Amino acid sequence: MTEILPVLHGEQLTSPAAFHEPLHVASEGDQWWRSSVIYQVYPRSFRDSDGDGVGDLRGITAELQGLAELSIDAIWLSPFYTSPQRDGGYDVADYCDVDPLFGTLADFDALVARADGLGIRVIVDLVPNHCSSEHVLFQTALAAPAGSSERGMFVFRDGTGPDGTEPPNNWQSHFGGPAWTRTLDPDGTPGQWYLHLFDSSQPDFDWDNPAVHAEFERVLRFWLDRGVGGFRVDVAHALIKAEGLPDWGGRADGGSMEGFPGSEAPMFGQDAVHTIYRRWRSILAEYDGERILCAEASIDPLPRLADWVRADEMHQAFNFAYLHNPWNAHGLRSVISSSLAAFDTVGAPTTWVLSNHDVVRHTSRFGLTDGAPRGGDGIGSTDPQPDTAVGLARARAASLAMFALPGGIYLYQGEELGLPDHTSMPDDARQDPTFLRTNGERLGRDGCRVPLPWRAHAASSGFAGSGDTAGTPWLPQPEGWAGYARDLQAEDPGSTLALYRTALQLRRDLRLGAGSLRWSRDFERTDVVAFRNGELMVVLNMGEFAAALPEGTIVATSMSGVVQDGLLAPDACVWLMIRAGQG
Ligand code: NOJ
Repeated sequence: MTEILPVLHGEQLTSPAAFHEPLHVASEGDQWWRSSVIYQVYPRSFRDSDGDGVGDLRGITAELQGLAELSIDAIWLSPFYTSPQRDGGYDVADYCDVDPLFGTLADFDALVARADGLGIRVIVDLVPNHCSSEHVLFQTALAAPAGSSERGMFVFRDGTGPDGTEPPNNWQSHFGGPAWTRTLDPDGTPGQWYLHLFDSSQPDFDWDNPAVHAEFERVLRFWLDRGVGGFRVDVAHALIKAEGLPDWGGRADGGSMEGFPGSEAPMFGQDAVHTIYRRWRSILAEYDGERILCAEASIDPLPRLADWVRADEMHQAFNFAYLHNPWNAHGLRSVISSSLAAFDTVGAPTTWVLSNHDVVRHTSRFGLTDGAPRGGDGIGSTDPQPDTAVGLARARAASLAMFALPGGIYLYQGEELGLPDHTSMPDDARQDPTFLRTNGERLGRDGCRVPLPWRAHAASSGFAGSGDTAGTPWLPQPEGWAGYARDLQAEDPGSTLALYRTALQLRRDLRLGAGSLRWSRDFERTDVVAFRNGELMVVLNMGEFAAALPEGTIVATSMSGVVQDGLLAPDACVWLMIRAGQG
């Protein structure tokens, strides 16, 4: 039986004294990106229009109407550029063209035009830290001698030790193994080494070289001229490396480790990187329509990350501290408070995100009642499996609470369907370089990249064409995938899709993104997170027992039936309108 813990009730709960002073006041600027909802499309897995098993630009265009129904302001497209696809397109061989796998530049223009007609901006992914080893600049550098200007576009160094057989320093690749690969000179003898913080097929550019700056300014203008709404900037903390490339004792990816604070990593967060973003912001300002830059920067703590969004730098930065908070009320309150404090200090919006193409989906993370995914980046069939029902209930509750937060929201395709990760993918289907470079020790990110289910009763759940053109999805879809199909959910008022549609529409109507935040002091229980944004009160029950609610009109719940007799069930969230004048 559900135990009810005593809490204050009714009037007391919504009295003026019941709320703390505002932690965050409503934003003054009304620029769209201060309160935006941006939906991430991972093109390979969104919708395949031609049945080759890989999603494409036409597939995205065909489904934009459905995305507009989520009250989004923009979509962010993960890379669709020419690429050998060794890292899902984050290995770019030509920054100014579309990979035939995804379509053509004309398809891209058609996508932007359709999005524009629906009031949706299109943000593209810029990958400036590294390119593909097949990029013409890298191929030219390989063919050129040591010390040449061609090699100067990348980080080539002589090796150490006898005959240069040891790498230039001890840095490790983010995907496992050394961050250096030795090249062969044209006569076949071993030559210099080049740096790659990621896969060996992703050589790092040398951002100390002005020619690299010029090349990327050209790329920015190419897409700005084509009408994009801005750029999500990949590994935006890594472009500049510390002078002399000193050895580093911390984790392979530059993260903190005892004795080695991440803030001192020589490959991340170097001061000079900010000069680049100031320049880019000034380029964007030459164009109309409030185009934006969003930093993908794994920087902690939050006040340091706020440096990326100072008034003359980027507009937004992903809030990974928020994403990584487990199902824990204390941690959630703390990360919300410290995020708003950090970003308010520089006058930037805080962003909120729960899932993306690099992490286990939040439905599966929150369903792991005994801890975090192994290695942080994948769940396999021999690992403890998430509890699907608990995971979905918590994911819906967490999303509903997030939608009431002031600032910008990022959604990842498929979360509006409540999709879990594929947690039993066969190893021979995996394609993430993390899996390949660690010999399977780390599973990698394929589990969250599974092609979406569109129609319950079609082959591949409607992802890869139909009838004669039906194809096989590039990653296998797990059993039961059709049960999450969009067409089923569109007909079901209790579905996750219906929740997202309703709540995001309310977020827009109530202007919650531009709103304020005050913590409620009413709940003696620390496992209930309660805050107010304007007239709306949000209660998220992260505990094991039902929680008594204040009086108010229910405007949204995370699942039907979670509020009964004034009590909010565990793993649930409610939005209440409280009476004017109260609080
Ligand atoms: C971050 C991207 O989100 C990830 O998918 C990619 O593998 C790395 N950057 C390298 O580009």
